[in-house]
Amino acid sequence: MEKMLLKIENIYYDYKENNDLLPVLAEINISVKRGEFICIIGPSGCGKSTLFNILVGLEKPDKGRIFLKGEDITGTRGHIAYMPQRDLLFPWRTVMENVLLGVEIKKENLQKAYQEAEKLIPLFGLKGFENHYPDQLSGGMRQRAALLRTVLTHNDILALDEPFGALDALTRTTMQEWILSIQEKLDKTILFITHDIEEAILLADRIIILNGRPGRITDKLKIDLQPPRCRTDKVFVDYREKLLERLSAEDDFNKNTETSRRE
Ligand SMILES: Nc1ncnc2c1ncn2[C@@H]1O[C@H](COP(=O)(O)OP(=O)(O)OP(=O)(O)O)[C@@H](O)[C@H]1O
Ligand SMILES: [Mg+2]
Repeated sequence: MEKMLLKIENIYYDYKENNDLLPVLAEINISVKRGEFICIIGPSGCGKSTLFNILVGLEKPDKGRIFLKGEDITGTRGHIAYMPQRDLLFPWRTVMENVLLGVEIKKENLQKAYQEAEKLIPLFGLKGFENHYPDQLSGGMRQRAALLRTVLTHNDILALDEPFGALDALTRTTMQEWILSIQEKLDKTILFITHDIEEAILLADRIIILNGRPGRITDKLKIDLQPPRCRTDKVFVDYREKLLERLSAEDDFNKNTETSRRE
């Protein structure tokens, strides 16, 4: 059997509020191969960001383990690069100072990281903007700077939580093409949360659908489409229909269970 880079095994998680337990994730199993691009899609509140917080060790699961190359990394940090949903560049730091922040926090060699950042800056479309401040950048540039900061932490796996969520449609399309080129050039494995079905079909080798409360995996779909993927191709449109169907079927399911709970 092919060796998995990352294994998420039977994760359960409850938020603890006062004396109440709010079940957020249940029975989450995901195996990831090196070089895969995995999109996680699901309605607001189903636990996607919580799953990433657990994955990168910011939260501990109540049950289940995370294995990286066979090593148990559950609840420990620094193994997976993370770009959180609301990733903020510090407004008082220049692009370069922001980009080096992750390295600074990890107390790695700053001089080496600086040289590497200089090399990567053109690839991230930030050449000439090293000494600019975030409010002097476009939305796309800010997201690329945040991504460069994530990449510089030297992990094989990038966990990106809706990195293009706040961008306009045109910038978003450019960024989608760009991230695929980055993945190939830098040889990364990517876990990517999105609300956008088309974005998921454009980017993913596999799409994982998370749904319900607590969030469970209700579907996994392999996307068999050669690059460059085109939104108007028949196969692409078929995938979109299939995903829409599966997501709305889940919605009905949620509504039904809510009604029956109320009755
Ligand atoms: N700090 C917290 N304390 C208590 N409950 C929380 C906390 N953070 C999140 N939750 C709850 O956990 C659930 C999952 O939240 P999470 O942020 O993981 O969802 P999500 O799928 O990322 O949603 P979105 O698509 O809106 O980003 C939500 O129902 C939310 O109310
Ligand atoms: Mg979220």
